Amino acid sequence: MTALTYDPADPALKVDPWAFYQRLRDEAPVLSCTGATPEAENFYVMTRYDDIAMLLRDKNRVSAHVVDRLLQGAFLDLPAMVNSDAPVHTKLRRVTNRALGPRAVSSLPLRVQQLIDELIGEMLSKPEVEFVEEFTTELPLRLVGEMLGVPLDRKAEITRWSEAVLETASLIGGGDPDLVPGCTEDFLALVNFIDEQATGRVGCPHRGDLLSDLVSREAAGELSHDEVVAMGWSFLSAGKDTTMYLLGGGMQMLLADPLLADRLIAEPERTDNFIEEYLRFNSPTQLVLRRLKEDIELHGVVMPAGSLVDVLVGSANRDPRKFPDPDVFDIDRPNAADHLAFGAGSHFCPGTAVARMLAGLAFRALYPHLHRLSLDPERPPQMRVKPGAFGIDHMDILVSQDTPALATARL
Ligand code: HEM
Repeated sequence: MTALTYDPADPALKVDPWAFYQRLRDEAPVLSCTGATPEAENFYVMTRYDDIAMLLRDKNRVSAHVVDRLLQGAFLDLPAMVNSDAPVHTKLRRVTNRALGPRAVSSLPLRVQQLIDELIGEMLSKPEVEFVEEFTTELPLRLVGEMLGVPLDRKAEITRWSEAVLETASLIGGGDPDLVPGCTEDFLALVNFIDEQATGRVGCPHRGDLLSDLVSREAAGELSHDEVVAMGWSFLSAGKDTTMYLLGGGMQMLLADPLLADRLIAEPERTDNFIEEYLRFNSPTQLVLRRLKEDIELHGVVMPAGSLVDVLVGSANRDPRKFPDPDVFDIDRPNAADHLAFGAGSHFCPGTAVARMLAGLAFRALYPHLHRLSLDPERPPQMRVKPGAFGIDHMDILVSQDTPALATARL
């Protein structure tokens, strides 16, 4: 048996990491790893559900402030929520919770439904579509872009720049920079874009969007300019580059498994559990990062204070100790929603209500048209192999023009 080593840059892990995760969970639930490049630091990797749930909730011994060093020639001590601890995190999180809380989100479904109907209409008018570009990227980008209030006329660039945020995070976690050339530059381009947008609002009337709200908080002395900018780019990237993989992966399952599609068409009320089971099964964020404030001993391994830890939530969600038969996709799984795909503890994703609402409306709106849509057998869906999020990056779908819609009623 070969010695266990974990190379987060291994492209095979981007497509089918499950057997390897199982070996890690069983043989080395806390594994010490060497950085892939001389510039990268050494780190630990954790893979079991209970350990990860504990670590993410341990504010006393565990810090989220992981990016504080030179990376690819740029100093990235990011003033972002995801990279901060209390009290800064608490302040930023309060603002975000308001922006994404029940009151703010209650007005969104109407607009989201409109966007979905528009995109489905466009899709059905063509003989074939590339679903990732035309639907899964477009929908969250339009929604999050509108909520934030940034113009989307440079859509292709914004898409590339926002992807770079997760790619850069993957480098911190030991990824190979050669796999994501230019990602630091792209990340900085996004920072500059949001900076311009925020600066353009200084002294101007409130435009009714999140960025105007953040700028008014800067004027009131509540937030620094860097914090405003970081909240802007975090929001764009965290909201788009995760939800798109949920939408694309869910759609691929519906098209590849007619029994699943029939069941959901007949019982659309199962959609919410379908979404939770998808998030458990193929978590778009496979990994989050933490740094230890104190020594932590687990399974006989002492991780010293200061250590960086790759926390594999994607593996936790396939841990049979928590989810029986974890490699079976089961929309009736009673504890599917216990997954850690949205993280846990104080950094638990504040966008969960938006992501769940958007995906629920999208799948329900797609059900009546599934019989007209099929995966192109000549060009099967492709998984993302670059570091960053996990899921389908390209999916060609054929659209039958001869078949009428099954039902137009909202499911
Ligand atoms: C399927 C969709 C989504 C997934 C899988 C996801 C996943 C995650 C995860 C795992 C974290 C925790 C990171 C950590 O602990 O280090 C997180 C945090 C975050 N997410 Fe999401 N997310 C999704 C959708 C969204 C949406 C739609 C938004 C915004 C509209 C959003 C905004 C954020 C923000 C701002 C944070 C940082 C929170 C903090 O550090 O306190 N996410 N997300």
